[in-house]
Amino acid sequence: MNINIHYDGKGIRHMAIIGELDTREKIQQLLSHMEQNIEETHITFFDSSILHWSIIEKLYALQKHKRSRVFVLKPYLYAYLSKIGIRSYYVAQEPEGCKKESEVTTRNSKALYAQQVMDFLTAIYDQYGYDYTQYQIDSIMRRIKLCMLKENIQSFEVFKRVVLENEEVFERLFLDFSINITDFFRDPEVFAAIRDKILPYLDSFHHIKIWCAGCSTGQEAYSLAIMLDELNMLNKTQIYATDINPFVVEEAENGLYPLAGIENNIRNYRNAKGSKSFMKYFKVKETYMEIDVRLKKSILFFQHSLVNSGSINEFQLILCRNVLIYFSPDLQKNILKNFYCSLNQNGFLILGKREGILNNGGHQYFCNYDPENRMFRRRALKEA
Ligand SMILES: C[S@@+](CC[C@H](N)C(=O)[O-])C[C@H]1O[C@@H](n2cnc3c(N)ncnc32)[C@H](O)[C@@H]1O
Repeated sequence: MNINIHYDGKGIRHMAIIGELDTREKIQQLLSHMEQNIEETHITFFDSSILHWSIIEKLYALQKHKRSRVFVLKPYLYAYLSKIGIRSYYVAQEPEGCKKESEVTTRNSKALYAQQVMDFLTAIYDQYGYDYTQYQIDSIMRRIKLCMLKENIQSFEVFKRVVLENEEVFERLFLDFSINITDFFRDPEVFAAIRDKILPYLDSFHHIKIWCAGCSTGQEAYSLAIMLDELNMLNKTQIYATDINPFVVEEAENGLYPLAGIENNIRNYRNAKGSKSFMKYFKVKETYMEIDVRLKKSILFFQHSLVNSGSINEFQLILCRNVLIYFSPDLQKNILKNFYCSLNQNGFLILGKREGILNNGGHQYFCNYDPENRMFRRRALKEA
């Protein structure tokens, strides 16, 4: 990472951050520059798609005293900062070769064929290591079309080439493939059922291990941690929270959430039988709130793909909600088998409210526990 600094004729300090801020030392280096007492600073983040919470805190403080302007080149960072109320300016970039190619293509976008798309997904896997070949093809095709529109490319052949040659464009397609909608205590009745029907059983263990697979920006894992804390079970629990998308994993680790929409979170918390004050778990700033450090420490967030992966531990409970819905039945079956191998005897699996195990062969591995809340229990070894 490089930090280039210069002062213009008006005494404004311009800082250009080039490269990733991916180590503690680099973050510290930037923080020490930001701490210097300069009248006005303009900071441009060239390559960062996400920032560590300590830098966000500093940006927030500078902005509060009207002493900074933030410029970003990555759309993900722009969206993240605006979500938590930090104003930034988005500097749009034209990926090399992209415009030229799109201009020479006809305006009529041709129909996409499943086989073309499968070949493209295989090439993406070879080039970037992300395997989307077993996702629901209709949903993938919709997202490709959306990305082509945003990139202003009409020809699929051109789009394919641009994505495979230009990592920046692939990154944007990757983000379009990733649906990250989530919330604190999403489907509160499911959390109430976890509290009443699963946690009393888990409490009989000395040590509890829970896996939140496809955790998105972390609200689901933190909701579990809050519930466990209220039942005095947090100190003996380790939550693993994983997602294929490295940016949402970093957002989750940051634990910063917008204050807007908080009423809905509080309502969900109460409907999930939360017994304290939801806000007690956050340090509140003017535009965002930060999750309690104790809760952060109980969760290990890391990037992990459910596709082609083996079991990662032995858990008593796995949540994989609103993820399988994007996968083909064959892939769903493989993943359910993997969950079976990653659960201990009598372990629990919870899927999303619209997901089941009947059409994908999962009944081999699991039986119903609370069908309404999509809770399943691992079958005994000889049954499976
Ligand atoms: C709709 S969110 C669900 C979040 C949370 N579980 C919930 O229900 O609120 C789906 C998440 O699955 C993740 N995902 C998609 N494919 C995945 C894969 N192959 N491995 C792990 N996570 C994946 C996405 O990145 C996204 O964050």
